[in-house]
Amino acid sequence: MSVVSTTVEDGVAVLTMDNPPVNSGNAAMRSGLADALDSIAAREDIRAVVIASANKHFYAGSDISEFDRPLVDPQLPAVIERIETLTVPVVAAITGLALGGGFELALGCDARIADTTAAVGFPEVTLGILPGAGGTVRGARLVGVPAAIDLVASARRVKADEALRLGLVDEVVESADLVHAATERAQQMQGKNRLRDRTAPAASVEEIDAARAIASKRARPNVLAAIEAVCRGVDIDASDALAEERLLFDSLRVGAESSNLRYLFFAKSAAAKALRTEAKAPAVSVVGIAGAGTMGAALARAFRARRYDVIVYDTNRQALDRVTANSDITVTDSIADLGKTGLIVDAVFEDMDVKKSLLTSLEPHLADDAVIVSNTSYLDLNEMASALDRPQRFAGLHFFNPPDRNPLVEVIRAGTTDGSTLAVLASIVAKLGKSPIPAGIGDGFVANRVYADYRSQVEFLVEEGASPAEVDAALVELGFAIGPFAVADMSGLDIAWARRKRLAPNRDPEQRYVTIADRLCEAGRLGKKTGAGWYAYPDGAKRGIPDEVAASIIDDARRDAGVAPRSIDGDEIRDRVQGSMVCAAASLVENGIAGRASDIDVAMTEGFAFPKWLGGPVRALALRDPSDVIDVLAVVHRSCPLSFASAEPATRGEMPELIGRILESVR
Ligand code: 3HC
Repeated sequence: MSVVSTTVEDGVAVLTMDNPPVNSGNAAMRSGLADALDSIAAREDIRAVVIASANKHFYAGSDISEFDRPLVDPQLPAVIERIETLTVPVVAAITGLALGGGFELALGCDARIADTTAAVGFPEVTLGILPGAGGTVRGARLVGVPAAIDLVASARRVKADEALRLGLVDEVVESADLVHAATERAQQMQGKNRLRDRTAPAASVEEIDAARAIASKRARPNVLAAIEAVCRGVDIDASDALAEERLLFDSLRVGAESSNLRYLFFAKSAAAKALRTEAKAPAVSVVGIAGAGTMGAALARAFRARRYDVIVYDTNRQALDRVTANSDITVTDSIADLGKTGLIVDAVFEDMDVKKSLLTSLEPHLADDAVIVSNTSYLDLNEMASALDRPQRFAGLHFFNPPDRNPLVEVIRAGTTDGSTLAVLASIVAKLGKSPIPAGIGDGFVANRVYADYRSQVEFLVEEGASPAEVDAALVELGFAIGPFAVADMSGLDIAWARRKRLAPNRDPEQRYVTIADRLCEAGRLGKKTGAGWYAYPDGAKRGIPDEVAASIIDDARRDAGVAPRSIDGDEIRDRVQGSMVCAAASLVENGIAGRASDIDVAMTEGFAFPKWLGGPVRALALRDPSDVIDVLAVVHRSCPLSFASAEPATRGEMPELIGRILESVR
């Protein structure tokens, strides 16, 4: 059966696309549309056409799983050309999402009617490509160059009301009336209204330059190409512009960046899918946050922004007052008030006794099916669960700073967590718009564990001779927005210092330990807030500058460790950082704390700003020549044989089996 069906009534043909789950445009969809349009072209009794959807979404873009191979004909531009060459008007009836190729299909129509659920946009640049079926050409002819630059380069979704204001759609109606309204519009239209025949609305050079300047900031090559395609396309013949756009699209589609970004798209899907269970999840509408500190307050904002009713509990009245300023969040100093909530997030002080005492005093107030999650970064969730009568309704939900903006969330199953609790969490993280990964119990779970090895490695590099500024610069060159030492100064060095002191008694003497950070803290250099850390911040400077004091603290530490400093180039810095993360990934997968190596790539790109266009640390190494990888792993192993034990075979010129396996899994 075709995924596109046609019904005809009163001379209007309604083509209904039905390709679940999201009506993405694959070969079957394109040939279904092409066949339906060809049949209409051959009939004389049809006066108008409506293209509609049987699903929640109109058409969520091309099926990107087809992008690794040559695309099968008919390709989307040829389908859209059929719409344009029909002599009768064609109206798109947009419900839900019309994204990428889906919106381009709608722009090929003669009018666009949306319902109130609709949102349109061009997400292509997030996949390393640009719109390839006329988005830059027809988009600019519809709304003008500045607005088209913004849409194409920002990849933002435009909801129905704004789409109407911008002229991206012609009318917005209630969902129940959508096909009827589109049919009426199609019947009333006098002939065709093709965007390709229009001249773009006028815009001044200043307006275009301003839009271009905003969109070009820190933009990847594909974004710059998209901006140029929009600008150039309005000055040349539409057919030439469409052909040029398609060529660019195809060359970007087969490139490494796009392939890595598609890999990440499916990695995120796989991580989210791993959380799904068959169990029923009671709907949660009221969320409690226990603890009104910085994290608790930010979590409250994150939940409120997604329309949860939020109650924040704390015994500290001043902290509660800070939460209520500028927000419609309820606060309370009575724990019993959390009884109304379906999910409670523990964001109290990171101390086992404090957490356990919260859990025992909280549980008696809750409904039996309420779920408690802890946002702990390091504490043992199984020990926390032991404080509860209903440990099956308890799990870890670990957010990353700043939790109202950082998309990463680890969903951690404790030994006793049941399936229905996981189902509640899967639906909550989806509603929050977060990128979840499943994680098991282990020190630092997944992301912080990988980050810890990355942090250790950058300190090894400094002890061996690189300056903090050299390390930061090398990693900015890799694609991080800011290097790890600048990040540490911004966050403050004291929390990690306190943790190191706490863990010191149990530290393995074989573990390589760099003392520089401790010495900086002992000298009162706790980061930007104290005017100095790894860098100095004279007179409240925004960006740190390398200074003599830090340099001499580093020299002392090297001397005491018996290290003769050498110069280390950017390639070695980048290799060792990525190699360390991959070793950590391998041990996390081996001991089951991470489900898949690709989850680590999701964690590092979503939560820790690892450059997405490289696909993540595991993918980046997996795409390199195996003999290079062995060399990288050998150097990483030598930097600390205990931490990077899994890389030992590389020192004998062999690919470590476990690492070889995880690299293979992400190719
Ligand atoms: N290609 C292939 N598979 C896709 C897909 C796509 N464009 N969009 C979604 N899927 C798959 C997902 O991988 C997932 O598969 P799974 O169930 O096996 O894990 C399933 O469809 C459902 O997707 P989600 O779980 O992501 O569903 P949500 O409801 O959370 O989100 C969505 C729906 C917002 C549409 C989201 O899937 C999305 O952002 N998709 C990508 C949209 C996009 O980027 N489109 C542009 C493609 S490029 C293009 O059109 C080129 C053109 O210019 C020529």
